[in-house]
Amino acid sequence: MRRPYAYIAGTGHAVPKNIVTNHDIAAMGLDTNDEWIFDRTGIRQRHIARDGESLRSLSADASRQAMAKAGVQPGEIDVIILGTASPDRLLPATSVELQSELGCTRAASFDLAAACSGWLYGMIVGESLIQAGSAETVLVVGAEKLSAIVDWTDRNTCILFADGAGATILRRTRTGQKGVLSTFMRSDGELAELLWRPAGGGAEPFDTLTEETKSRQYVRMAGREVFKHAVRAMAEATDRALDAAKLTAADVDLLIPHQANVRIIEATAKHAGISMDKVFVNVDRFGNTSAASIPIALNDAIEQGRVKDGSTVLFTAFGAGFTWGSLVVRF
Ligand code: ACO
Repeated sequence: MRRPYAYIAGTGHAVPKNIVTNHDIAAMGLDTNDEWIFDRTGIRQRHIARDGESLRSLSADASRQAMAKAGVQPGEIDVIILGTASPDRLLPATSVELQSELGCTRAASFDLAAACSGWLYGMIVGESLIQAGSAETVLVVGAEKLSAIVDWTDRNTCILFADGAGATILRRTRTGQKGVLSTFMRSDGELAELLWRPAGGGAEPFDTLTEETKSRQYVRMAGREVFKHAVRAMAEATDRALDAAKLTAADVDLLIPHQANVRIIEATAKHAGISMDKVFVNVDRFGNTSAASIPIALNDAIEQGRVKDGSTVLFTAFGAGFTWGSLVVRF
């Protein structure tokens, strides 16, 4: 096992105040119900932004908590990486607006587009910058306002996706006793159209859309196909990260997977040989918050006392692209 270069010094999360239950979605006139949604996904409710809550404001709330817990001042942050598929605007990156709001005047900031793998990719990039000696302290945020890019008349997608932000402070380790033990990341663009948002960028600007094709700006998904690829990819990712850390499933205290669907999570855990009592699940309360799901789950798990000093935690993500990856961290 290699000596860790970077450790997680603080975490935080923020979600909108407004809770939308499965019953609320059914009451919107969609042909669905609480039983169907819970049986197929494990989701009971999700938080949906209202009244000026933005990606920037949610990210700032989560980041301030993480910085306070790490004892880090804004001027100490060298780099801000914001994983998101739903920035407040396409230009500039939401990360620079976050930088300004937090007062991180010394930081370099950029958004990272890897969909649900955004936070995990960001952690790997942040750790690499620390390992290379380019940064001491990196703020890695995963945040989404998916409610803004979901078609609220499409029962295939709107029941799944939600809003929120999770933040992590990654710092150079002085002792080498805790920190990131291994990483793994992959992508496959051949399958891009199984989960995508066709319009909105330069390829299909909004002003070229007719009334009839306007729905191309919303997320589209072939759910059953995505399900199969998610299980296969996260199985590969957990194997590869454990192998690289020279660990086995028995060494893992907690698996924190991307919170997309409880059935995907159960299949991933089964493949990895990790029993469900060592798997963190909060998709029932938060829905699928894409890049935010793992850092929200991590902060939730720490607050519940399920991650303690000395815990070995395996993280795995899968998202549109497709992108996937994994991370083993000792706390
Ligand atoms: N309520 C009621 N019925 C529904 C709903 C709904 N909300 N949505 C779909 N259905 C219907 C379908 O229309 C279909 O009806 P039909 O048989 O008459 O055609 C039937 O239910 C079965 O549809 P499937 O899509 O085959 O249902 P499935 O069991 O695959 O569940 C689901 C759908 C929940 C979307 C599942 O495929 C899934 O979770 N896939 C993974 C999606 C995911 O997690 N995406 C994100 C991962 S990556 C990331 O996070 C970006």
